[in-house]
Amino acid sequence: MRIRPFERGHRGWVYYLAVDPDHRGSGRGAALMAEVEKRLIALGCPKVQLQVRPGNEEALRFYDALGYTPFSASSTGKRLILDD
Ligand SMILES: CC(C)(COP(=O)(O)OP(=O)(O)OC[C@H]1O[C@@H](n2cnc3c(N)ncnc32)[C@H](O)[C@@H]1OP(=O)(O)O)[C@@H](O)C(=O)NCCC(=O)NCCS
Repeated sequence: MRIRPFERGHRGWVYYLAVDPDHRGSGRGAALMAEVEKRLIALGCPKVQLQVRPGNEEALRFYDALGYTPFSASSTGKRLILDD
């Protein structure tokens, strides 16, 4: 397990949360997010945000269950190194 929450200004970001497929559905994801929130609060960071890929409905249901609320924002990016 590796948790490295970081914050810029008043937003803490969760970059990618994953639980081993063999251990999903037993509260580990919720426990990891609770730990992230605790550490961000300890840093004085009032808000946590993350991105979910379009179509990842399971992740959205998971975050919904934890009290997260979707909001609209535009993302943009550029690939610098092509995949093999
Ligand atoms: C999303 C993920 C991290 C959830 O981890 P988890 O350990 O299975 O989740 P938990 O067991 O802690 O679930 C907590 C609550 O979320 C909800 N939940 C979790 N997975 C769900 C699903 N697939 N569908 C609906 N609700 C779900 C449930 O309400 C659950 O509470 P309950 O078990 O009391 O009903 C895990 O499914 C995962 O690693 N997915 C692949 C990676 C991914 O998509 N990560 C998100 C990137 S943004």
